[in-house]
Amino acid sequence: MDFDLTQDQREIQALTRDFAKAEIEPNAAQWDRDHHFPRELFGKLAEIGLMGACVPEEYGGAGVDFLSYILVLEELSRADAGVGVTVAVHTSAVTLPLLAYGTDEQKSRFVPPLARGEHLGAFALTEAEAGSDAGAIRTVAEPHDDGWTITGAKQWITNGRYSGTFLLFARTDQRTAGARGVSAFILDADHVRVTRDEEKLGLNSSVTNDIVIEGAEVERDRLLYEENRGFRVAMTTLDGGRIGIAAQALGIAQAAYEVARAYALERRAFGHRIGDFQAIQHKLANMSMEIDAARLLVYRAAWLKHQRRPHTEEGAKAKLFASEVARRQTAEAIQVLGGYGYTKEFPVERYYRDAKITEIYEGTSEIQRLVIARSILGLSERTLAVKS
Ligand code: CAA
Repeated sequence: MDFDLTQDQREIQALTRDFAKAEIEPNAAQWDRDHHFPRELFGKLAEIGLMGACVPEEYGGAGVDFLSYILVLEELSRADAGVGVTVAVHTSAVTLPLLAYGTDEQKSRFVPPLARGEHLGAFALTEAEAGSDAGAIRTVAEPHDDGWTITGAKQWITNGRYSGTFLLFARTDQRTAGARGVSAFILDADHVRVTRDEEKLGLNSSVTNDIVIEGAEVERDRLLYEENRGFRVAMTTLDGGRIGIAAQALGIAQAAYEVARAYALERRAFGHRIGDFQAIQHKLANMSMEIDAARLLVYRAAWLKHQRRPHTEEGAKAKLFASEVARRQTAEAIQVLGGYGYTKEFPVERYYRDAKITEIYEGTSEIQRLVIARSILGLSERTLAVKS
Protein backbone atom coordinates (compact mmCIF):
# COMPACT_ATOMS: atom_id res chain seq x y z
CA MET A 1 0.00 0.00 0.00
CA ASP A 2 1.23 3.46 -0.88
CA PHE A 3 -0.47 6.56 0.53
CA ASP A 4 1.79 9.00 -1.34
CA LEU A 5 0.68 10.87 -4.42
CA THR A 6 3.03 10.45 -7.36
CA GLN A 7 5.24 13.29 -8.53
CA ASP A 8 2.86 13.89 -11.48
CA GLN A 9 -0.16 13.94 -9.19
CA ARG A 10 1.51 16.43 -6.85
CA GLU A 11 2.39 18.62 -9.81
CA ILE A 12 -1.15 18.80 -11.18
CA GLN A 13 -2.45 19.41 -7.65
CA ALA A 14 0.00 22.32 -7.23
CA LEU A 15 -0.78 23.68 -10.70
CA THR A 16 -4.51 23.69 -9.94
CA ARG A 17 -4.02 25.15 -6.46
CA ASP A 18 -1.90 28.01 -7.81
CA PHE A 19 -4.38 28.69 -10.60
CA ALA A 20 -7.30 28.63 -8.16
CA LYS A 21 -5.52 30.98 -5.73
CA ALA A 22 -4.79 33.48 -8.49
CA GLU A 23 -7.87 33.28 -10.70
CA ILE A 24 -10.76 31.88 -8.65
CA GLU A 25 -10.44 32.51 -4.91
CA PRO A 26 -10.21 36.32 -5.15
CA ASN A 27 -13.44 36.42 -7.21
CA ALA A 28 -15.50 33.66 -5.62
CA ALA A 29 -17.41 35.86 -3.14
CA GLN A 30 -18.35 38.35 -5.86
CA TRP A 31 -19.43 35.64 -8.30
CA ASP A 32 -21.58 34.19 -5.53
CA ARG A 33 -23.20 37.55 -4.77
CA ASP A 34 -23.75 38.41 -8.44
CA HIS A 35 -24.78 34.90 -9.46
CA HIS A 36 -22.11 35.29 -12.12
CA PHE A 37 -21.12 32.36 -14.31
CA PRO A 38 -17.41 32.94 -15.07
CA ARG A 39 -17.52 31.80 -18.71
CA GLU A 40 -14.08 33.24 -19.47
CA LEU A 41 -12.48 31.21 -16.67
CA PHE A 42 -13.10 27.93 -18.48
CA GLY A 43 -11.03 29.13 -21.44
CA LYS A 44 -8.15 29.75 -19.05
CA LEU A 45 -8.65 26.34 -17.42
CA ALA A 46 -8.58 24.81 -20.90
CA GLU A 47 -5.28 26.55 -21.66
CA ILE A 48 -3.64 24.64 -18.79
CA GLY A 49 -5.34 21.38 -19.78
CA LEU A 50 -7.91 21.19 -16.99
CA MET A 51 -11.07 20.97 -19.09
CA GLY A 52 -9.97 17.52 -20.21
CA ALA A 53 -7.47 16.55 -17.55
CA CYS A 54 -8.02 12.78 -17.68
CA VAL A 55 -8.85 12.65 -21.39
CA PRO A 56 -6.17 10.97 -23.54
CA GLU A 57 -3.93 13.37 -25.44
CA GLU A 58 -5.03 11.95 -28.80
CA TYR A 59 -8.51 13.36 -28.01
CA GLY A 60 -7.26 16.77 -26.97
CA GLY A 61 -6.90 16.11 -23.23
CA ALA A 62 -3.99 16.30 -20.80
CA GLY A 63 -3.83 12.51 -20.44
CA VAL A 64 -3.46 12.36 -16.66
CA ASP A 65 -4.87 9.57 -14.48
CA PHE A 66 -8.32 9.67 -12.85
CA LEU A 67 -6.97 10.42 -9.36
CA SER A 68 -5.15 13.47 -10.75
CA TYR A 69 -8.45 14.68 -12.18
CA ILE A 70 -10.06 14.16 -8.77
CA LEU A 71 -7.30 16.29 -7.22
CA VAL A 72 -8.15 18.99 -9.76
CA LEU A 73 -11.82 18.92 -8.72
CA GLU A 74 -10.88 19.05 -5.04
CA GLU A 75 -8.66 22.09 -5.56
CA LEU A 76 -11.12 23.95 -7.77
CA SER A 77 -13.96 23.29 -5.32
CA ARG A 78 -11.83 24.48 -2.42
CA ALA A 79 -11.75 27.86 -4.15
CA ASP A 80 -15.26 27.82 -5.63
CA ALA A 81 -17.58 24.83 -5.61
CA GLY A 82 -19.59 26.29 -8.50
CA VAL A 83 -16.51 26.11 -10.70
CA GLY A 84 -15.93 22.60 -9.35
CA VAL A 85 -19.34 21.30 -10.41
CA THR A 86 -19.10 22.92 -13.83
CA VAL A 87 -15.86 21.07 -14.56
CA ALA A 88 -17.09 17.87 -12.88
CA VAL A 89 -20.25 17.58 -14.95
CA HIS A 90 -18.46 18.64 -18.14
CA THR A 91 -15.82 15.96 -17.67
CA SER A 92 -17.22 13.06 -15.62
CA ALA A 93 -20.77 13.17 -16.91
CA VAL A 94 -20.21 13.99 -20.59
CA THR A 95 -16.65 13.66 -21.90
CA LEU A 96 -15.83 10.41 -20.09
CA PRO A 97 -19.00 8.48 -21.10
CA LEU A 98 -18.44 9.61 -24.70
CA LEU A 99 -14.96 8.12 -24.45
CA ALA A 100 -16.19 4.96 -22.75
CA TYR A 101 -19.17 4.23 -24.99
CA GLY A 102 -18.60 6.19 -28.20
CA THR A 103 -17.66 4.71 -31.56
CA ASP A 104 -14.31 5.85 -32.95
CA GLU A 105 -16.18 8.34 -35.11
CA GLN A 106 -18.17 9.71 -32.14
CA LYS A 107 -15.04 9.99 -30.01
CA SER A 108 -13.04 11.89 -32.60
CA ARG A 109 -15.94 14.15 -33.45
CA PHE A 110 -17.34 15.04 -30.04
CA VAL A 111 -14.55 14.61 -27.47
CA PRO A 112 -11.78 17.03 -28.65
CA PRO A 113 -13.95 20.20 -28.57
CA LEU A 114 -15.00 19.27 -25.01
CA ALA A 115 -11.49 18.36 -23.86
CA ARG A 116 -10.14 21.61 -25.31
CA GLY A 117 -12.87 23.56 -23.50
CA GLU A 118 -14.33 25.00 -26.72
CA HIS A 119 -17.73 24.39 -25.24
CA LEU A 120 -19.15 22.79 -22.13
CA GLY A 121 -20.94 19.49 -21.72
CA ALA A 122 -24.25 18.86 -19.96
CA PHE A 123 -25.80 15.64 -18.67
CA ALA A 124 -29.55 15.58 -19.25
CA LEU A 125 -31.15 12.76 -17.32
CA THR A 126 -33.33 14.33 -14.62
CA GLU A 127 -36.95 15.31 -15.28
CA ALA A 128 -39.63 16.86 -13.11
CA GLU A 129 -40.95 13.42 -12.17
CA ALA A 130 -37.76 11.44 -12.60
CA GLY A 131 -35.11 12.47 -10.07
CA SER A 132 -34.05 9.64 -7.77
CA ASP A 133 -36.22 7.32 -9.87
CA ALA A 134 -34.19 8.01 -13.00
CA GLY A 135 -35.80 5.10 -14.84
CA ALA A 136 -39.13 6.98 -14.87
CA ILE A 137 -38.06 9.48 -17.55
CA ARG A 138 -40.70 10.46 -20.10
CA THR A 139 -38.67 12.23 -22.78
CA VAL A 140 -39.38 10.22 -25.91
CA ALA A 141 -37.24 9.35 -28.93
CA GLU A 142 -39.57 8.20 -31.74
CA PRO A 143 -37.73 6.12 -34.33
CA HIS A 144 -37.91 6.77 -38.07
CA ASP A 145 -35.87 5.60 -41.04
CA ASP A 146 -32.93 7.96 -40.53
CA GLY A 147 -32.89 8.24 -36.75
CA TRP A 148 -35.17 9.61 -34.04
CA THR A 149 -37.39 12.55 -33.23
CA ILE A 150 -36.84 13.55 -29.60
CA THR A 151 -39.42 15.39 -27.52
CA GLY A 152 -39.45 16.14 -23.82
CA ALA A 153 -38.31 18.33 -20.96
CA LYS A 154 -35.35 18.04 -18.60
CA GLN A 155 -34.82 19.75 -15.28
CA TRP A 156 -31.83 20.97 -13.20
CA ILE A 157 -29.34 20.61 -16.00
CA THR A 158 -25.94 21.84 -14.84
CA ASN A 159 -24.17 23.85 -17.60
CA GLY A 160 -27.35 23.77 -19.74
CA ARG A 161 -27.19 27.38 -20.93
CA TYR A 162 -23.50 27.18 -21.90
CA SER A 163 -23.42 23.64 -23.20
CA GLY A 164 -22.51 22.70 -26.76
CA THR A 165 -22.89 18.94 -26.21
CA PHE A 166 -25.68 17.30 -24.25
CA LEU A 167 -25.63 13.67 -23.19
CA LEU A 168 -29.38 13.19 -23.12
CA PHE A 169 -31.46 10.21 -22.09
CA ALA A 170 -34.78 9.41 -23.75
CA ARG A 171 -37.22 6.55 -23.88
CA THR A 172 -36.87 4.55 -27.10
CA ASP A 173 -39.12 1.66 -26.13
CA GLN A 174 -42.58 2.87 -25.15
CA ARG A 175 -43.78 -0.62 -24.28
CA THR A 176 -41.23 -1.05 -21.51
CA ALA A 177 -41.61 0.96 -18.34
CA GLY A 178 -38.59 1.80 -16.19
CA ALA A 179 -34.93 1.63 -16.96
CA ARG A 180 -35.02 -0.93 -19.77
CA GLY A 181 -36.42 1.17 -22.63
CA VAL A 182 -34.02 4.10 -22.27
CA SER A 183 -31.30 5.16 -24.75
CA ALA A 184 -28.48 7.71 -24.58
CA PHE A 185 -28.12 10.39 -27.27
CA ILE A 186 -25.53 13.04 -28.11
CA LEU A 187 -27.27 16.36 -28.82
CA ASP A 188 -26.00 19.78 -29.84
CA ALA A 189 -27.06 23.10 -28.34
CA ASP A 190 -29.44 23.78 -31.23
CA HIS A 191 -31.38 20.59 -30.48
CA VAL A 192 -32.52 22.03 -27.15
CA ARG A 193 -34.03 25.25 -25.83
CA VAL A 194 -33.16 26.60 -22.39
CA THR A 195 -36.36 27.67 -20.65
CA ARG A 196 -35.28 28.58 -17.15
CA ASP A 197 -32.35 29.54 -14.93
CA GLU A 198 -32.78 27.97 -11.53
CA GLU A 199 -32.27 30.10 -8.41
CA LYS A 200 -30.40 28.10 -5.84
CA LEU A 201 -29.31 28.18 -2.21
CA GLY A 202 -25.69 28.10 -3.28
CA LEU A 203 -23.35 27.23 -6.15
CA ASN A 204 -24.26 30.61 -7.57
CA SER A 205 -21.30 30.67 -9.96
CA SER A 206 -22.70 27.61 -11.75
CA VAL A 207 -25.75 27.47 -13.99
CA THR A 208 -28.66 25.09 -13.56
CA ASN A 209 -31.29 25.07 -16.28
CA ASP A 210 -34.55 23.63 -17.39
CA ILE A 211 -34.46 22.66 -21.06
CA VAL A 212 -36.99 21.44 -23.60
CA ILE A 213 -36.43 19.29 -26.65
CA GLU A 214 -39.09 20.09 -29.21
CA GLY A 215 -39.10 17.44 -31.89
CA ALA A 216 -35.33 17.48 -32.38
CA GLU A 217 -34.31 15.36 -35.36
CA VAL A 218 -31.24 13.28 -34.66
CA GLU A 219 -29.54 10.85 -37.00
CA ARG A 220 -28.44 7.33 -36.12
CA ASP A 221 -24.89 8.46 -35.39
CA ARG A 222 -26.24 10.37 -32.35
CA LEU A 223 -27.13 7.19 -30.47
CA LEU A 224 -24.50 6.50 -27.79
CA TYR A 225 -24.03 2.78 -27.14
CA GLU A 226 -26.86 0.34 -27.84
CA GLU A 227 -30.51 1.20 -28.29
CA ASN A 228 -32.48 0.59 -25.07
CA ARG A 229 -29.23 0.17 -23.08
CA GLY A 230 -28.84 3.83 -22.19
CA PHE A 231 -29.64 3.33 -18.51
CA ARG A 232 -26.40 1.40 -18.18
CA VAL A 233 -24.59 4.41 -19.66
CA ALA A 234 -26.31 6.67 -17.10
CA MET A 235 -25.55 4.41 -14.14
CA THR A 236 -21.89 3.79 -14.96
CA THR A 237 -21.46 7.50 -15.66
CA LEU A 238 -22.89 8.29 -12.24
CA ASP A 239 -20.64 5.65 -10.64
CA GLY A 240 -17.66 7.75 -11.73
CA GLY A 241 -19.38 11.12 -11.42
CA ARG A 242 -20.11 10.49 -7.75
CA ILE A 243 -16.38 10.31 -7.03
CA GLY A 244 -16.09 13.79 -8.55
CA ILE A 245 -18.88 15.15 -6.36
CA ALA A 246 -17.21 13.51 -3.36
CA ALA A 247 -14.03 15.42 -4.29
CA GLN A 248 -16.06 18.60 -4.56
CA ALA A 249 -17.45 18.03 -1.04
CA LEU A 250 -13.95 17.32 0.21
CA GLY A 251 -12.65 20.58 -1.27
CA ILE A 252 -15.46 22.58 0.37
CA ALA A 253 -14.86 20.93 3.77
CA GLN A 254 -11.12 21.54 3.51
CA ALA A 255 -11.66 25.21 2.74
CA ALA A 256 -14.01 25.61 5.72
CA TYR A 257 -11.56 23.85 8.03
CA GLU A 258 -8.72 26.13 6.97
CA VAL A 259 -10.71 29.28 7.69
CA ALA A 260 -11.86 27.92 11.07
CA ARG A 261 -8.32 26.88 12.04
CA ALA A 262 -6.81 30.24 11.11
CA TYR A 263 -9.57 32.07 12.97
CA ALA A 264 -9.11 29.93 16.09
CA LEU A 265 -5.43 30.88 16.17
CA GLU A 266 -6.20 34.61 15.80
CA ARG A 267 -9.41 35.42 17.60
CA ARG A 268 -9.14 36.22 21.29
CA ALA A 269 -11.79 35.86 23.98
CA PHE A 270 -11.58 35.76 27.77
CA GLY A 271 -7.91 36.75 27.47
CA HIS A 272 -6.92 33.77 25.27
CA ARG A 273 -6.89 32.69 21.65
CA ILE A 274 -10.10 30.75 21.18
CA GLY A 275 -7.97 27.86 19.87
CA ASP A 276 -6.69 27.49 23.44
CA PHE A 277 -10.17 26.41 24.56
CA GLN A 278 -10.98 22.73 24.50
CA ALA A 279 -14.43 23.32 23.01
CA ILE A 280 -12.84 24.80 19.88
CA GLN A 281 -9.98 22.30 19.86
CA HIS A 282 -12.43 19.41 19.76
CA LYS A 283 -14.28 20.94 16.84
CA LEU A 284 -11.06 21.37 14.87
CA ALA A 285 -9.89 17.85 15.77
CA ASN A 286 -13.17 16.39 14.52
CA MET A 287 -13.00 18.43 11.33
CA SER A 288 -9.46 17.35 10.61
CA MET A 289 -10.24 13.68 11.32
CA GLU A 290 -13.42 13.54 9.25
CA ILE A 291 -11.79 15.33 6.32
CA ASP A 292 -8.89 12.86 6.45
CA ALA A 293 -11.30 9.92 6.44
CA ALA A 294 -13.29 11.39 3.57
CA ARG A 295 -10.12 11.99 1.59
CA LEU A 296 -9.05 8.36 1.99
CA LEU A 297 -12.45 7.13 0.75
CA VAL A 298 -12.41 9.54 -2.21
CA TYR A 299 -8.86 8.71 -3.31
CA ARG A 300 -9.49 4.98 -2.94
CA ALA A 301 -12.57 5.16 -5.15
CA ALA A 302 -10.64 7.21 -7.72
CA TRP A 303 -7.77 4.75 -7.66
CA LEU A 304 -10.15 1.82 -8.20
CA LYS A 305 -11.76 3.57 -11.14
CA HIS A 306 -8.37 4.28 -12.65
CA GLN A 307 -7.48 0.57 -12.27
CA ARG A 308 -10.74 -0.21 -14.13
CA ARG A 309 -11.89 -2.16 -11.09
CA PRO A 310 -15.48 -2.13 -9.75
CA HIS A 311 -16.14 1.10 -7.85
CA THR A 312 -19.93 1.44 -7.61
CA GLU A 313 -20.02 0.74 -3.86
CA GLU A 314 -16.77 2.59 -3.09
CA GLY A 315 -17.84 5.65 -5.08
CA ALA A 316 -21.20 5.73 -3.30
CA LYS A 317 -19.47 5.43 0.08
CA ALA A 318 -17.05 8.23 -0.80
CA LYS A 319 -19.82 10.54 -1.97
CA LEU A 320 -22.10 9.75 0.95
CA PHE A 321 -19.43 10.25 3.58
CA ALA A 322 -17.67 13.26 2.04
CA SER A 323 -20.94 15.11 1.44
CA GLU A 324 -22.12 14.53 5.02
CA VAL A 325 -18.73 15.67 6.32
CA ALA A 326 -18.96 18.80 4.16
CA ARG A 327 -22.45 19.67 5.42
CA ARG A 328 -21.58 18.97 9.08
CA GLN A 329 -18.15 20.59 9.12
CA THR A 330 -19.07 23.73 7.21
CA ALA A 331 -21.71 24.26 9.90
CA GLU A 332 -19.05 23.70 12.56
CA ALA A 333 -16.78 26.22 10.84
CA ILE A 334 -19.53 28.82 11.14
CA GLN A 335 -19.84 27.90 14.81
CA VAL A 336 -16.10 28.45 15.38
CA LEU A 337 -16.37 31.90 13.81
CA GLY A 338 -19.55 32.69 15.75
CA GLY A 339 -21.38 35.79 14.53
CA TYR A 340 -18.67 36.51 11.95
CA GLY A 341 -19.27 33.11 10.42
CA TYR A 342 -22.84 34.05 9.67
CA THR A 343 -21.80 37.17 7.76
CA LYS A 344 -20.42 37.64 4.28
CA GLU A 345 -17.21 39.02 5.74
CA PHE A 346 -15.92 35.43 5.80
CA PRO A 347 -16.49 32.70 3.20
CA VAL A 348 -17.75 29.99 5.55
CA GLU A 349 -21.45 30.84 5.06
CA ARG A 350 -20.90 30.30 1.30
CA TYR A 351 -19.20 26.97 1.97
CA TYR A 352 -22.17 25.94 4.13
CA ARG A 353 -24.67 26.82 1.38
CA ASP A 354 -22.55 25.15 -1.29
CA ALA A 355 -21.99 21.98 0.74
CA LYS A 356 -25.67 21.07 1.03
CA ILE A 357 -26.14 20.18 -2.63
CA THR A 358 -23.45 17.51 -2.47
CA GLU A 359 -25.90 15.45 -0.40
CA ILE A 360 -28.47 15.75 -3.17
CA TYR A 361 -27.18 15.77 -6.73
CA GLU A 362 -25.66 12.83 -8.57
CA GLY A 363 -27.82 10.73 -6.26
CA THR A 364 -29.11 11.75 -2.84
CA SER A 365 -27.60 10.32 0.32
CA GLU A 366 -30.63 8.03 0.47
CA ILE A 367 -29.80 6.69 -3.01
CA GLN A 368 -26.14 6.24 -2.05
CA ARG A 369 -27.23 4.16 0.95
CA LEU A 370 -29.46 2.13 -1.35
CA VAL A 371 -26.58 1.53 -3.78
CA ILE A 372 -24.27 0.50 -0.91
CA ALA A 373 -26.93 -1.75 0.64
CA ARG A 374 -27.60 -3.49 -2.67
CA SER A 375 -23.90 -4.13 -3.06
CA ILE A 376 -23.17 -5.43 0.44
CA LEU A 377 -26.33 -7.55 0.57
CA GLY A 378 -25.88 -8.90 -2.94
CA LEU A 379 -29.27 -7.54 -3.96
CA SER A 380 -29.96 -6.03 -7.32
CA GLU A 381 -32.66 -4.48 -9.41
CA ARG A 382 -35.70 -2.87 -7.85
CA THR A 383 -36.11 -5.02 -4.72
CA LEU A 384 -34.60 -2.53 -2.30
CA ALA A 385 -36.01 0.50 -4.03
CA VAL A 386 -39.50 -0.89 -3.59
CA LYS A 387 -39.03 -1.95 0.02
CA SER A 388 -37.25 1.19 1.24
N1 CAA B 1 -23.62 -0.09 -13.39
C1 CAA B 1 -24.10 -0.75 -14.49
N2 CAA B 1 -25.42 -1.05 -14.64
C2 CAA B 1 -26.25 -0.68 -13.65
C3 CAA B 1 -25.83 0.00 -12.49
C4 CAA B 1 -24.45 0.28 -12.39
N3 CAA B 1 -23.94 0.95 -11.33
N4 CAA B 1 -26.88 0.22 -11.70
C5 CAA B 1 -27.94 -0.28 -12.32
N5 CAA B 1 -27.56 -0.83 -13.51
C6 CAA B 1 -28.39 -1.53 -14.49
C7 CAA B 1 -29.03 -2.76 -13.86
O1 CAA B 1 -28.18 -3.87 -13.94
C8 CAA B 1 -30.24 -2.91 -14.74
O2 CAA B 1 -29.87 -3.48 -15.97
P1 CAA B 1 -30.83 -4.53 -16.74
O3 CAA B 1 -32.06 -3.74 -17.09
O4 CAA B 1 -30.00 -4.91 -17.93
O5 CAA B 1 -31.09 -5.63 -15.79
C9 CAA B 1 -30.66 -1.48 -15.02
O6 CAA B 1 -29.47 -0.68 -14.86
C10 CAA B 1 -31.72 -0.97 -14.07
O7 CAA B 1 -31.22 -1.08 -12.76
P2 CAA B 1 -32.13 -1.04 -11.47
O8 CAA B 1 -33.27 -1.99 -11.63
O9 CAA B 1 -31.22 -1.17 -10.32
O10 CAA B 1 -32.73 0.43 -11.58
P3 CAA B 1 -33.65 1.22 -10.57
O11 CAA B 1 -34.76 1.80 -11.34
O12 CAA B 1 -33.94 0.41 -9.35
O13 CAA B 1 -32.70 2.47 -10.18
C11 CAA B 1 -31.13 3.71 -8.89
C12 CAA B 1 -31.51 2.38 -9.56
C13 CAA B 1 -29.78 3.39 -8.25
C14 CAA B 1 -32.11 4.13 -7.84
C15 CAA B 1 -30.98 4.78 -10.00
O14 CAA B 1 -32.24 5.16 -10.51
C16 CAA B 1 -30.24 6.00 -9.50
O15 CAA B 1 -29.02 6.03 -9.46
N6 CAA B 1 -31.00 7.07 -9.16
C17 CAA B 1 -30.39 8.35 -8.85
C18 CAA B 1 -30.29 9.19 -10.09
C19 CAA B 1 -29.19 10.19 -9.99
O16 CAA B 1 -28.16 9.97 -9.39
N7 CAA B 1 -29.38 11.28 -10.68
C20 CAA B 1 -28.37 12.29 -10.78
C21 CAA B 1 -28.69 13.22 -11.90
S1 CAA B 1 -27.26 13.91 -12.65
C22 CAA B 1 -26.71 15.16 -11.66
O17 CAA B 1 -27.13 15.32 -10.56
C23 CAA B 1 -25.65 15.99 -12.27
C24 CAA B 1 -25.42 17.29 -11.59
O18 CAA B 1 -26.10 18.24 -11.81
C25 CAA B 1 -24.27 17.44 -10.71
